Amino acid sequence: MKILFVCSGNICRSPTAEGLMRHLCESDGLVGNTFDSAGTHGLHAGEAPDHRAITLAKNKGIDISGLRARQVTADDFDRFDIIYAMDAGHMQHLKAKKPTGAHAQLKMYHPDYDVPDPWYGDERHFVKTWDIIREGADSVLKDLKNAE
Ligand code: 4NP
Repeated sequence: MKILFVCSGNICRSPTAEGLMRHLCESDGLVGNTFDSAGTHGLHAGEAPDHRAITLAKNKGIDISGLRARQVTADDFDRFDIIYAMDAGHMQHLKAKKPTGAHAQLKMYHPDYDVPDPWYGDERHFVKTWDIIREGADSVLKDLKNAE
């Protein structure tokens, strides 16, 4: 499966989800999936993830420092099998942008919650966001296992 995670700037939530899912699949021996992330806007295109997201991931043994932000493109809707929206606003954006007949299935990353935007907050907001991303990862893993 080819999976894309989408948030607003692609520097906090979606690169964290990308790094975490890669890590979890490796530890789980789940092979054959590819992961990428993008932002609904391109304000941070080309930038590394926010240093607070990098530090938090690093503390969990995950290196996301090499990822670079980019904006979602029309091609993404054919290149990926599932595109996960980190919050309901991203889902609205993706639904509006998805070309008619494009292949990708759109899903919410966490089945119950929006993953909150930590960017304007402090370390505590990043920790809270991490916890929700970690929780949502289980339903992504379930989707991947169901597709095997
Ligand atoms: P992200 O966080 O969507 O999780 O990467 C944000 C990063 C930047 C902005 C908003 C959210 N911004 O407005 O520039």
